[in-house]
Order: sequence, then C-alpha cells, then structure tokens
Amino acid sequence: MASLPKRQDESAIKADQARIADMLRQIAEIGPDPTAGISRVGFSSEEREAHELVGGWLKNLGLPVRVDAIGNTMATRAGAGPNNSAIAFGSHLDSVVHGGRFDGIVGVVAMVEAMTLMAETHATTRHPLQGVIFACEEGARFGEPCIGSKAIAGMLTEGDLARIRDADGVTLEQAMLSIGLRPSELRDVCWDRGDAAAFLEVHIEQGRILESESCPIGLVDVVSGSTRMRMTISGRAGHTGGTPMPNRADALAAAAEITLEVEALANAPTYRGTRATVGCLDVYPNKITTIPGRVEMRIDVRDFDSDRLRRAAREIAERAGAIANRRGVGVDAEVIADTSPVVLSMWLRRAVSQVCGELGFDYRFMPSGAGHDAQIMASIAAAAIIFVPSKDGASHVPEEWTSVADIAKGADVLYQSILRIDDVLASS
Ligand code: GLV
Ligand code: MN
Ligand code: MN
Repeated sequence: MASLPKRQDESAIKADQARIADMLRQIAEIGPDPTAGISRVGFSSEEREAHELVGGWLKNLGLPVRVDAIGNTMATRAGAGPNNSAIAFGSHLDSVVHGGRFDGIVGVVAMVEAMTLMAETHATTRHPLQGVIFACEEGARFGEPCIGSKAIAGMLTEGDLARIRDADGVTLEQAMLSIGLRPSELRDVCWDRGDAAAFLEVHIEQGRILESESCPIGLVDVVSGSTRMRMTISGRAGHTGGTPMPNRADALAAAAEITLEVEALANAPTYRGTRATVGCLDVYPNKITTIPGRVEMRIDVRDFDSDRLRRAAREIAERAGAIANRRGVGVDAEVIADTSPVVLSMWLRRAVSQVCGELGFDYRFMPSGAGHDAQIMASIAAAAIIFVPSKDGASHVPEEWTSVADIAKGADVLYQSILRIDDVLASS
C-alpha cells in the first residue's frame, strides 16, 4: 500500500473543551422533563430531534450523513485505501425517563469531536471512519435495550418488532412508523461481516471506581448481560373495608413479597456477582380504597456469567410461583429481553491502553455492570469501551455528571486510538 502523507504532531492535537461543553448544552435542551432530569426515550420525537441536531453538526464537517430504516444516524469519512472495513465509533442519544445529560451523550459528543479533529488536521486514514448514533439503546419504553445496534448486528427480526410492546400495548413497529421510520426495511439495516473492523464507544462509567481511584480512563474487559422479565400478578380487587383479611388475594402484597425475594436471591452466596432489581411496579386499580387486583412488575437481572444470569432469572420465576401459590394469586412471568454478557477484544484494548500511556493518562481495566451498544457491536467487529468517571457513580438519574475535562480526555483517547487502530489494521 502507498505510504500516507505524514500527519502533523499527533500528540499535540487535543479535544476542545469549550466545544464539548457547547455540544452537551445543546443536546440537553432537547427533552428536559418538567418533573426532573431528561426524558428523551427511544423512538420518541425528542430522540429524533437530537439525532437531527447532531447529524447537522456532522454534515457541517462535510460528511455524508444518513439515517437507516430503524433510526441509527451515521456519518462516513472516506478512507484512502480501497474497500477497507470501517473503524466505527459512537453511542446513543436516548435516555431513561428522568435520566441524566451524559449517559450515551458523552460517546456521541466524543465521536463528533474526533471527527472534528480529523477534519481540522486534514488527517488521512486508510480505513473509512464511521460515526454512529444508535437508536433506542436504553430500552426505557419497550424493555428491550440496544435496538439500533441489534438491528445493525442482525439480532432483530421483523417478528420482534411486531412482538415487543410498551406498557400501553404499542408495538415497536407502530412506534417506529409513528415517527417516520421504516420497520419493513429492517433487513437493510444489518451490516455485513467485514463492514467494520473495529468499534469504539466512549461512555460514562456509571459507577464510582474511577472517581474513587482518581483514574481518568477505564478500559472495559467484560460487559454484563441482562435478562428482563415482565411478571403479572393476578389477585382479586375488592373493598378495603368490606373484605376481611383472610378472604383476600392481594396482588400488591404478593408483589411486595416477590420483590424482597428477588433481593434475597441476588444477595445469596450462590449468586455473588448477580444483580437483580424490581424497578417497576404498575398497580391496578391503584386506588386507596380498593385491594390491588393486578400488579405488573418488571425485573432486571444482570450478571457477567451467562449461565448464572439465566439460572437466576429462572429461579426468580420459580420462587415467585411458590409465593403466588401460597397467597392464592396467579403469576405469569415472561422474558421480555435477554442480552448476553460479552468479553471485549483484547488486541483493541491493548491498542487503546498504549494510546493512554502515550497521552500520559492513567487507566485501569474494569468490567461494565451496565449494558452498552459496544457489547452488541462486538458480535460483528472487535469492540472497545472507554470509560470516563461518573461523579458519585450516579447514573440514570438527573444528578448524573462528568466534567468536561474528563470527557475531553475520553475524546483524546478516542481520536488517537482511531489513528492507532488504522495503523494496526493496515499492518496486520
Ligand atoms: C443501559 O444503560 C443499561 O441499562 O445497562
Ligand atoms: Mn448508555
Ligand atoms: Mn443507560
């Protein structure tokens, strides 16, 4: 391959903190929740608006920008080599309900900053660069996370889009159609093997390890899997005054006992490392003078061990069945989403760690308890996650915060890693 023109002194090129602060501010103006934080859930008009805003910035860099049928926004910077697989990088712009301003956003902002530095320095890479903003990572509304990346990786079918529903019974397909997306073209979203050689995602840690160790960068080795269940408890509604205590089938009392059982299971020594949470209870009719007749619970189980993850979910369903039996209520448990744990690429982690060393940034290897688009992209490309610190470990709450200086370090690592990976891939 012909040698490339020499780059400028790469180590002197740094992310611009003022620019990063301005991007964060503009994105945070979309979807503020009048109650608290940001509610910019996947497949909402707010998520689309945020994609359009950032897509506009990428267009201003002279990059062709396209939105695929499921709503992933992508910007491509051509490489100098013919037919080379892309180096892809990015994250998501959707949030949970009452979420923060940094989860996902930081990775998108770092992607734009890296593309901006590429443009400013007239950098030439052999491989095309693919900036990606994934649609609907959180699964806040539909339970299923990483919809955009799963579509890219070929892990979603049209049947899934018709099956997966939100709490009001609206299917993913209907939600997509209502905002102008094209579920029937799902197959065109899927990337071929070889389309991307590597994928990198800058993300906030969502824990307190980096902060407590005053370490600016975490390089993720393994990402937790997640099994999510919807459990419906069917009891008997009735008058709170007229129904004697022995004659009741109180769905909420059963749900409360199941909730404590879920906690007890994850605290037991056999499940050390498992995390299990009842994060959502919908009580019907939810009236002070009516015994709850039905409760819908949502349970999220996380683990780094895929076998133990599924075992825990199964055992939760079994224990819930026993509690329901004893209390004379019905229970119906359904798995609504299941994402496997993933070990990320070692060669990519090594390349990024060398970059950290050269930039003079301390780093550590660490697992990720939260799920990420990178863990899905790992099925079609080598994948890496670059963590930056989270203040007090707060995440999925309005208090989520990371300093612009730390985000800039993440963007520096991303930018330099892209150039390094371009070299590594060319020489392998
Ligand atoms: C993504 O934020 C997750 O819930 O892990
Ligand atoms: Mn995220
Ligand atoms: Mn999240």
